[in-house]
Amino acid sequence: MQSLSSSFSRHDFGPDFVWGTATAAYQVEGAHQTDGRGPSIWDTFTHDRRWGRFRDHGDVACEFYHRYESDLALMKSMGFKAFRFSLSWSRIMPDGTGRVNEAGLAFYDRLIDTCLRLGIEPWVTLYHWDLPQALEAKGGWTNRTVLRWFSEYVECCTKAFGHKVKNWMVLNEPLVFTAAGYFAGIHAPGRRGLWNFLPAVHHVVICQGEGGRIIRRNVPNARIGTTLFCAPVEPYTPNIRDVRTADRINALGNRLFIEPSLGLGYPVQDAPLLKQILTKYAKLGDLQRAVFDFDFIGLQNYFRLVVRHDWFTPYVWAREVKPRQRRVSEVTAMDWEVYPEGIYQIIRQFAQYEKVKEIIITENGAAFPDRLVNGQVDDPQRVTFYQNYLRQVLRAKQEGLKIGGYFAWSLMDNFEWAEGYRPRFGLIYVDYPTQQRIIKQSGHWFRQFLTS
Ligand code: NOJ
Repeated sequence: MQSLSSSFSRHDFGPDFVWGTATAAYQVEGAHQTDGRGPSIWDTFTHDRRWGRFRDHGDVACEFYHRYESDLALMKSMGFKAFRFSLSWSRIMPDGTGRVNEAGLAFYDRLIDTCLRLGIEPWVTLYHWDLPQALEAKGGWTNRTVLRWFSEYVECCTKAFGHKVKNWMVLNEPLVFTAAGYFAGIHAPGRRGLWNFLPAVHHVVICQGEGGRIIRRNVPNARIGTTLFCAPVEPYTPNIRDVRTADRINALGNRLFIEPSLGLGYPVQDAPLLKQILTKYAKLGDLQRAVFDFDFIGLQNYFRLVVRHDWFTPYVWAREVKPRQRRVSEVTAMDWEVYPEGIYQIIRQFAQYEKVKEIIITENGAAFPDRLVNGQVDDPQRVTFYQNYLRQVLRAKQEGLKIGGYFAWSLMDNFEWAEGYRPRFGLIYVDYPTQQRIIKQSGHWFRQFLTS
């Protein structure tokens, strides 16, 4: 077993730095038909046989719905004091709008109370990709009425839990659920094309602002954020075409959801296809509604993107140069490049926006092919991954960048969307057939790091 020591300590991050782990409802809860939960787009998507690759689904997942108490106790034993989880919209409102399922609210009430009893601060994400199927049947995020549906849902959640929960995030990685779900069709609801993607983006951008305002109104002393996928983007060659391509992908990948919220509008200059949002879908006043003064921005970084110009990919005219083609030294089980400096670069990039008050890393982590051997899971690669990424977060902090916390993805192995259960991101190993939990070496590393 490799040494668990690192060259820095948690004290270097300061006493107020938030240390947590993260999960999302559909990825861990299971209990998909329990206590009146309605179906979400991910139930439909994973049960649909036409999607051949999807042999996995979240029907059972980690049974977190029934095991949350012991899971939170394990988390506490690792020294974490904050837990980021999401609420399942269709557990709370099975039809997406109208009727509220009291049993669904009661589950989250118990979960929140357990956190508080254990001295763990709840950090709630309102939307982590599981739209109620009933709303998708009416067009989902492409239907402008989603502004009303989403507001009703946020009203309901904040009124129910605002007296106990102070940390709120409106959305999880809007780029990923719009691009993968409404453009590429590889995530639920499996829709494709610009005509789905662009209206979805626009409605999500407005909901991001509206959601923030509803939380502000209903929750006294709230700390309000939203979370974003982000990755530093580099051109493969210094050729001007590749450089412009990198700018375009940076605009679409990193700037698309933050800039409207800061009052900067869509980055149309670098990504002209976004002009269509303004000509086809935006109404007067929409860009104002997109603006909200977030207390923090949650950044979720895993890798960097290296891109080159490509005539064969319509709209984006770009192709990713995959890590293997670049012969990078290490990739994860997702085939993502391990590139610790990237997290520093992306923090710097977002800190440049004057109006961003605070940055919190709301996700960072890695999947590796973990194995349970003699009752233990040694994952030295993940230990090294966390040490190296955290060193870069610390570097940003020491340079005076406003970074306030770090959440490891994930508390435990779980359902990794299109990839099913194969990639294991957890600090806790889940033996799915028995639902047994085993803290991995990386979890022990965190315990030593956080409690020493
Ligand atoms: C982003 C997502 O928010 C989360 O659901 C996912 O499992 C991780 N990153 C890893 O891909």
